[in-house]
Amino acid sequence: MTQWWRDAVVYQVYIRSFADGNGDATGDLGGLRDRLPYLADLGVDAIWVNPWYDSPLKDGGYDVADYRAINPMFGTLAEAEALIDEAHSRGIRVIADIVPNHTSDQHAWFQAALQSPPGSPERERYWFRDGQGPDGARPPNDWRSIFGGPAWQRVTEPDGTPGQYYLHLFDRTQPDLNWSNPEVVAEFESILRFWFDRGVDGFRIDVGHGLAKDPALPDLGSDDEGLMEAPDRSSHPHWDRDEVHEVYRGWRAVADSYDRPRMFVGEVWLDDPARLALYLRPDELHTSFAFELTDPDWEPAGVRAAITSGVHAAQTAGVAPTWTLSNHDIPRHVSRYGRPAKARERFGRTKYDMDGLDLDRGRSRARAAALLLLGLPGSAYLYQGEELGLEEVMDIPDDLRDDPVFFRGSGVEVGRDGCRVPLPWAPDGESLGFGANGAWLPQPAHWADLAASVQQGDDASMLSLYRRALAVRRAQPALHTTAMEWVSSPPDVLHWRRPHPDGPLDVVVTMGTDHYRLPPGEVVMASHPPEDGLLPPGAAAWVRLS
Ligand code: NOJ
Repeated sequence: MTQWWRDAVVYQVYIRSFADGNGDATGDLGGLRDRLPYLADLGVDAIWVNPWYDSPLKDGGYDVADYRAINPMFGTLAEAEALIDEAHSRGIRVIADIVPNHTSDQHAWFQAALQSPPGSPERERYWFRDGQGPDGARPPNDWRSIFGGPAWQRVTEPDGTPGQYYLHLFDRTQPDLNWSNPEVVAEFESILRFWFDRGVDGFRIDVGHGLAKDPALPDLGSDDEGLMEAPDRSSHPHWDRDEVHEVYRGWRAVADSYDRPRMFVGEVWLDDPARLALYLRPDELHTSFAFELTDPDWEPAGVRAAITSGVHAAQTAGVAPTWTLSNHDIPRHVSRYGRPAKARERFGRTKYDMDGLDLDRGRSRARAAALLLLGLPGSAYLYQGEELGLEEVMDIPDDLRDDPVFFRGSGVEVGRDGCRVPLPWAPDGESLGFGANGAWLPQPAHWADLAASVQQGDDASMLSLYRRALAVRRAQPALHTTAMEWVSSPPDVLHWRRPHPDGPLDVVVTMGTDHYRLPPGEVVMASHPPEDGLLPPGAAAWVRLS
């Protein structure tokens, strides 16, 4: 199928924490290449690899110093090319991650800008502005960084005097690029070609609703901390501006100039389906994440609304939905589903007390959630480790934390490290098989029981469930269209049908406390075994209707 992304199962590789091939406690391309058989065996169609470029890793690689080089910690360009070839020979496509809103402050362009005077072409690639007030002591406007604090950093000019400010919507090591500068536009089209020429099948676009800014840089007039989600207004000075579409039209032309189809999946945080649809026009992006399922607890009304909203947004745009339960920015769903009801205000990633967090319950619900996710129309992105049932690690010592969210905040928000802990591959060894010399973040000891090699041989494990579900999904034509219709059911049961000329398939998820009678047919997949046609509470099943 040429439009392979429409129903693909994509496995997200957070490369730093996936597998360490060279014993430096950090994941790398060698480790990933060694584990391709595992991914092929799991049955994924593609991998999305988080940024692998040369980077000081101030924001886990979303601070790129050189878009055409691999971070030496992760390997070499030759290894990336080998990975792409080897993945392809196993039928696995490779999606890279492009970071266009900002570079690292170590990028050659930014270093040149620091050495160049105000108004120079070097500074015009970024957003340099004079401060306000007689001595320029106040930032150019009131924008806030998404990671906390002001979005402006003052520089010291080469002559040693306090100088201009530059804009950074994220960390201060991530200066925002000026997308009204044609040089920036041309550079990124060239970077896309560089990687397409090396065989990558697509790109995930970081902060896809960012990039363009109102050149007048007006005050936002709000004292909120920066938010990632664009508010519903079309005139925001730095989110979802109309000018960004011109960028994506250029990118699509680059992608379409290749014979083998290449794709873009956008990280576009927008509530309004009509605004989102603009990104998904036939000459722009192929798809964008539906983040709806990353939000609700294990709670039927919220999950039902999330599905309806994601399906509606995709339909409005005329694309296939692209679902995900978790990623490298979001607390792992085992923990989200295991927390006590109503704890979510306190939960997030603040240093809350963990009373009442029930990981067994979370893991049990996560089994059902896997079939929920894989039973939806469209494509599904799995986050590494969810197939092992890993939870958010809440007790990383502060001195080992790495996320700028932690450093820029008041220390209350602990940041995203808890979902980035290196994977357990084996039940023993210092880093549970992650690498030969430890792991860059400590793994909970009990992850020994969740190690991939332990789960591999256990038919009842989460890993076996995922592997079976992917195999069954592959074999069921009804799970490969975008069609879905709700079947009437009690409010705490989600029941939908995937119609198909060869016969429909029903997806049932019980989220309340009652058993539910499955429709007559063949149960092709179940998270927890039904008995006498009754699905237990907190379970999911796929039924081929008779
Ligand atoms: C979204 C990425 O997923 C996140 O990890 C990163 O910190 C920000 N964009 C900034 O690049």
